[in-house]
Order: sequence, then C-alpha cells, then structure tokens
Amino acid sequence: MRTTFFLRKVDQKHPASDDLLSGQNVTNPQHPTPNRNHDKDDNMTTTCSAPGKIYLFGEHAVVYGNRAIASAIDLRTTATVTESNKTTIVSSLGTTGIDYAVHPYISRCIESLAVPAVSIRIDSEIPVGSGLGSSAAAVIATLGALNCEFDLGMDSTALAELGHRIEQDVQGAASPTDTLVSTVGGTVMITPGVSTSRLRLIECGIVIGDTEEFSSTKELVENVRILHERYPAVMNSIFDTIDHLSEIGVAMIERRDYQSVGELMNIDHGLLDAIGVGSAKLSRLVYAARDAGAWSAKITGAGGGGCIVALASDADVAAVASAINDAGGHAIATKASRDGMMIAD
Ligand code: MEV
Repeated sequence: MRTTFFLRKVDQKHPASDDLLSGQNVTNPQHPTPNRNHDKDDNMTTTCSAPGKIYLFGEHAVVYGNRAIASAIDLRTTATVTESNKTTIVSSLGTTGIDYAVHPYISRCIESLAVPAVSIRIDSEIPVGSGLGSSAAAVIATLGALNCEFDLGMDSTALAELGHRIEQDVQGAASPTDTLVSTVGGTVMITPGVSTSRLRLIECGIVIGDTEEFSSTKELVENVRILHERYPAVMNSIFDTIDHLSEIGVAMIERRDYQSVGELMNIDHGLLDAIGVGSAKLSRLVYAARDAGAWSAKITGAGGGGCIVALASDADVAAVASAINDAGGHAIATKASRDGMMIAD
C-alpha cells in the first residue's frame, strides 16, 4: 500500500535515500498533452487546480526536520491563466498587476517563471490564512497553469520545489509539506529533505473548524523560532515527541484505526498548545468537537487562529460540525482527496 518517492538527499536527522517525487507529468493523466482552450476573445487559456491540506501530525516540528503526516482534502484552488497584453492578477484579495503586497505568492510565480504578460484569475474554496494550505494551493495551481500554457516542460518535482522556494521567500521559513501535498495529493508522510511516502488515504469523516481569525504563518513560525532559540533542549524534546507520533501513526493509518490515530492527534494538539500556537477559540472548537464524539480534534497548520481538524466516524460528522458551529466556529465537512494538481479539460 505504501509507495515512496524521494526528494533531495540533504538530511540532517534521518538517513538519506535516493532521489525523488519522480518525474510525474503535470498534465491531466487522461490528456497527456497540454489542455489549452480558447476564451471568448479567442485567447489561449489554461485552468489548473490544486488541493488544500490538513496536518494529522507534525506542523511546526517539520520546519526543524521532523516527520509530518498530512493529507490533501476536497477543497481546491483554481488558477485560470490567459495570455494577455498586460499582467493582471484577480482574486478575492483584489485586482492588481505584479504586486508583492497584495499578491505576494502569485507575483513571485509569474516572475520566477519569466513568462510573457498574462491574466491570472484565482478562485478558491479554501479559506485564506486558515492553516489549510491556501497559499500553497494557489502557488501550485498557478505554476501548473503557467507551465502548461507556456509549454515550460517542468515536471511535478520541479513545480513542487519551485513552489516551496516561493513559500520560503514570502514566509521566511517554510517546510515543503504544503506545496508537496498540494502537488501530489493523497495522505503522505514527509521526511524533510529525504523522502515523501504515500500512505493509505484517510477514509473517515474530516471536519474542519474555522475560527475565522486570520493567522499569519510567517509570524507563528517566527514565534516558534524565538522560543526554540531560548529553550532549545525543551523545544527539541517536544519536536522529537511529535516526530515519534508521526512514526507510530503510520501503522494506525495503514490499518484504518482512526480512533488510535485520533488519540495521537490529541497528544499533538497538547504539544502545539505547549509551544504557544494555540488560542482560546481554537481550544473551544477542539473541546466542542471532542465532546460531540470526534475521535480527535487538534490545531491544523500554523495555529494562532486559523483552523482545527477533527476526525470522526461518518455517522458523527453532522454532530461534530454542529458542535463546532455552536461553539462559534465555521464547520466544513470534507474528505481526504487522492487528487493533487490537475489541469482542467
Ligand atoms: C503551516 O501550514 C505549517 C507550518 O509547519 C509551516 C510549514 O510547514 O511551512 C507551521
């Protein structure tokens, strides 16, 4: 059931393996040639989508080289690229040209590929700044669409790596997790700098609880960095424990024992609280979800605000969602998704 594909050999903490995420092509598997269409003015246009993600284990710890398990979910961002005589970026954040303040990620995508003028429209089902990988999904969908529209010939490894560099540029520090999961889809274990293993897809109910409080990944990662600098031994032992949760979580995921996965996720939530990325509202949503029968409820992503993720039996999803709403959050019931980046027909 597990397949492993490898990234570069730059390990600090775990033994290195061979290369790669493996030269997968980026076009729709049903359509190996680029899927470009004409818009109403007869301009060439390409649409590409990419998923958001949840962390079961390992956010923050993964930035320090520890293992993490994440899964793509059924919420996607779509980038539509049209060749044009002027570069414009249209999203829920506004309409701009290249603009590092309003559209830092998309502007960097356009500039790093050095493509001619384009119009890019971003449509997203993923709440922005919520810890669900909205920026990674926008970056991967945009890079995928530009790659296809301009026949740049980049494979998914190159796109995921470029996406990761763009996230690092904007955020200061970023693990490869968000961009990688958004590229390949599925439930995966990331060992930073070494490998990405595809695990059995999570098959139970997933309920997201959005605090609707914006969270800046850059600030949260910086706060954790400061704490790590002040108390390296304490923080490293917490990160080692989180790494261990990922390690033992794999077998539970493989045998679909989501109750035990949930117990470990609850431990991870406590550790995330300990490193200062919790909030009163996140805790309210976590306890509401658990009290309503969820196997687990924890922060997902950077924390501070953003979202919690709960795993529950399909039968309990409605009760968990309504408990999250009653506690002042916005519940989104979703599922894990096999689909990574996809060019639309
Ligand atoms: C953000 O979704 C997850 C963090 O671990 C940062 C990262 O991995 O880049 C906080």
